[in-house]
Amino acid sequence: MENILVTGGTGYIGSHTVLELLNGGYGVVVLDNLCNSSEESLERVKRLTGKDAKFYKGDIRNAADLDGIFKENKIDAVIHFAGLKAVGESVRLPLAYYDNNVTGTLVLLESMKRAGVHKIIFSSSATVYGVPERLPLTEDCALSAINPYGATKLVIEGILTDLQRAEPDWNVMLLRYFNPVGAHESGEIGEDPKGIPNNLMPFIAQVAAGRREKLLVYGNDYPTPDGTGVRDYIHVVDLAKGHVAALKGYKDPGVHICNLGTGKGYSVLEMVHAFERACGKKIPYEIVGRRAGDAAACYASAQKAFDDLGWKAELGIDEMCSSAWKWQKNNPDGYAKHN
Ligand code: NAD
Ligand code: WQD
Repeated sequence: MENILVTGGTGYIGSHTVLELLNGGYGVVVLDNLCNSSEESLERVKRLTGKDAKFYKGDIRNAADLDGIFKENKIDAVIHFAGLKAVGESVRLPLAYYDNNVTGTLVLLESMKRAGVHKIIFSSSATVYGVPERLPLTEDCALSAINPYGATKLVIEGILTDLQRAEPDWNVMLLRYFNPVGAHESGEIGEDPKGIPNNLMPFIAQVAAGRREKLLVYGNDYPTPDGTGVRDYIHVVDLAKGHVAALKGYKDPGVHICNLGTGKGYSVLEMVHAFERACGKKIPYEIVGRRAGDAAACYASAQKAFDDLGWKAELGIDEMCSSAWKWQKNNPDGYAKHN
């Protein structure tokens, strides 16, 4: 059995990936400092799979935490989700973002070296394409950072690429996620944002639940079919399965870069209407001005993922919305009552 260390494994994408790994027969060790998540997610994963991930509360910036884990467990590969991810917050708190994301990754890589573990999947993001050079975005499109969060992802991609060049036995997988949404079909695990959600889907879900009065739609004068922004929303369960596909498919050392998206874009209003179908209610919204830094449209070419890994997204916009609604409805306060 292969053992995978999942950093950030109690978080949104991490918990769904832990579930797929356990169901796929992997052993799973999770390291998380719980700064944006709850251990309850792993309890639920255990209920859903009948299998246990081993949990360590600790920080990727703490070498002793990491060295201890590698000493106590035989780890074959690391899936590295841990980090901070809110774009607006990264503009206000750049040092916290460089420290958590970049320093944290450096400490992790040093510890992996000491332990002789040279296989890593890194959670990169479509944000590394900056303002899209052309659509759909292929992996060879120009890269740029338009905020500190995006800069941390670009720097880490660069660090991993330089490391692999210097030490060719490393297997580095850079997976660039588009817009993950939705929840496990059970409605037991899902996205649990703290405070006011930054992202569209959790905001819509909270409007549907009556927790917020209305959605603010940031601009309807973009050069898109209905004027609102277009994104490549991907079901988090498909995304989680993409990680298992990468572990199986990218066997050889090298730097493997791969988009994880559906290849299809939906507008803000299309998402609103799909969510209305899923929850059977009207979602009140108001059109307001554009949000600074937003692109008109952003969607992936999903071709390389299919060619390299045989992976493609299976779930559509209706499953994204119905699962997000089921999670929201069954857990109006997320995991809060368990904190
Ligand atoms: P999340 O906040 O739910 O998960 C991140 C986890 O990392 C949390 O559980 C948090 O407690 C943990 N963490 C943060 N800093 C840590 C540290 N220093 N030490 C240990 N644990 C730490 O976010 P998510 O949406 O699941 O994102 C996972 C990864 O995917 C992140 O790296 C994020 O940048 C990347 N990503 C997310 C999206 C998205 O829209 N959700 C898109 C592209 C890429
Ligand atoms: C989607 C669309 C908004 C909220 C962000 C990060 C990106 C990646 C995914 C991590 C846009 C519109 C949104 C609202 C709205 N994360 N919108 N009202 O900006 O594509 O990507 O998350 O790597 O790096 O930048 O996602 O969900 O914020 O926005 O009208 O209240 O919804 O303008 O068109 P985005 P989003």
